[in-house]
Amino acid sequence: MAERTIDELCEKLLAKRGKALEGGGEKAIAKQHDKGKLTARERITQLLDPGSFVELDEFVEHRCDNFGMEKTKFPGDGVVTGYGTVDGRIVYVFSQDFTVLGGSLGEMHAKKICKVQDLALQNGAPIIGINDSGGARIQEAVDALSGYGNIFFRNVKASGVVPQFSIISGPCAGGAVYSPALTDFIFMVDKVGIMHITGPAVIKAVTGEDVTSEQIGGARAHNATSGVAQFFAADEAECFAQVRKVLSYLPSNNMEDPPVSQPGDDPMKTDMSLREAVPTNPNKGYDVRDVIRKVVDDGDFCEVQPLWARNIVTGFARVGGRSIGIIANQAAFMAGCLDIDASDKASRHIRLCDAYNIPIVTFEDVPGYLPGLNQEMGGIIRHGAKLLYAYSEATAPKITLVLRKGYGGSYLGMCSKDLGADVVLAWPQAEIAVMGAEGAANIIFRKEIDAAKDKNGVRSQKIEEYREAFANPYQAASRGFVDRVILPEETRPALYQALLMCDGKRELRPKRKHGIMPH
Ligand code: HXC
Repeated sequence: MAERTIDELCEKLLAKRGKALEGGGEKAIAKQHDKGKLTARERITQLLDPGSFVELDEFVEHRCDNFGMEKTKFPGDGVVTGYGTVDGRIVYVFSQDFTVLGGSLGEMHAKKICKVQDLALQNGAPIIGINDSGGARIQEAVDALSGYGNIFFRNVKASGVVPQFSIISGPCAGGAVYSPALTDFIFMVDKVGIMHITGPAVIKAVTGEDVTSEQIGGARAHNATSGVAQFFAADEAECFAQVRKVLSYLPSNNMEDPPVSQPGDDPMKTDMSLREAVPTNPNKGYDVRDVIRKVVDDGDFCEVQPLWARNIVTGFARVGGRSIGIIANQAAFMAGCLDIDASDKASRHIRLCDAYNIPIVTFEDVPGYLPGLNQEMGGIIRHGAKLLYAYSEATAPKITLVLRKGYGGSYLGMCSKDLGADVVLAWPQAEIAVMGAEGAANIIFRKEIDAAKDKNGVRSQKIEEYREAFANPYQAASRGFVDRVILPEETRPALYQALLMCDGKRELRPKRKHGIMPH
């Protein structure tokens, strides 16, 4: 037998690699591009640092021979997996290749994903999944279902240990949606990303409703209406930039501290314009994001879930180069009251920040809970409880700044001292009380008001008395519930000093298997 030369063997390897790079072939790639989608490998190249991607398992093939499947073996089996870097830090990736059998997930495709999930967990690095798939590979039956089960199991095991990101840049339907739903963030690309449990045809057959995929599963639907997704991107390039940005705030795993970057501007900088940022009249609206941008590094605020539950603002920023997670009542929308969706949105963000030990900074200006039948019967009691639970459970540094209103139960719900806030700051216009002056005066002085000839005059006078006595931060400060009443312009230095003060915080709680989070 003629001995094979090393060059021949290398040629063979290169040919095999070339074949793997072709994915489902030229025609399928052209079809993918025609739909406005990048290929699986193009996506990885754009997402990661240039030249950093190392592919694993490029020669894995499926083992199915049902329905003529033996003739449809493609190296890689419809998913590209491996690792690379984002801003020099290791991340693991998988990217489903729709050009191969519609990116459908069978036994070996799933095994490849599980392998990178295991590596991410073992080596303490984030994992990013790019979803573009027809779902469970129908020919592989229960092997495909088992594949999903294995992925879900690993999603849950890794939850809160390493950051998990899901990009939806193609179809993601049926039970397949549950892997992204178990991860930390869902990024959806407009026009191409679709997520739903049952599609329009099944809905029509079962309920008779006429709906489009975009309506029930599009990027806008899940960002603005269902609250399933956290980020909306106009195209894939924007989506990858969002992923890279969010990664920059997070540690690689829960045992690491969040990254610290060189601050662009002086953390001790004061800003007089903050005096005008929040009207002293408690009934006037303003955009809390303007306040946030004035106090964080370089005015750079990365908002999470900006299109849903807009009465509360969540996101990431830095102060003095340190990552912070932000929760803020949005006075510009529904007066910043708390409701079911706001409680769900905020409590999830608090738990996420806490899992990665990112200090939680709360900007409070809250009039109360939204009244109404829908809220009560929708379960505001159990949803609102999540907020108390998440804040109380969090052991990351917690800093609360009362900008203006802190009324009643919602005052507690926004991380008061009693829920373990490490530092509570308040502006001079803060009003910490059971309720606003008008409501309070009408209740406690009802008899005097009813008995008076000049009811309106007495009412106004009593409202003023109450306002004078309680609509200020000093009652709370006199009890130590507020640590410092600060001038608005001192906010950035005060936050920075509070962050430094909490730097060494370690809080141990009684051992338990896990708490029982309100549902
Ligand atoms: C096997 C599949 C497939 C699947 C698509 N393909 N989905 N093969 N299993 N699930 C194949 C197609 O047959 C086709 O092969 C190729 O992929 C491209 O698909 P097209 O239909 O030509 O593409 P497009 O027109 O863009 O439509 C995309 C699509 C559609 C909307 C996703 O393919 C579709 O409806 N697929 C079936 C979706 C589905 O019902 N999946 C099961 C969901 S249940 P050829 O050879 O023609 O190119 C599920 C359960 C998970 O996932 C449970 C977990 C617990």
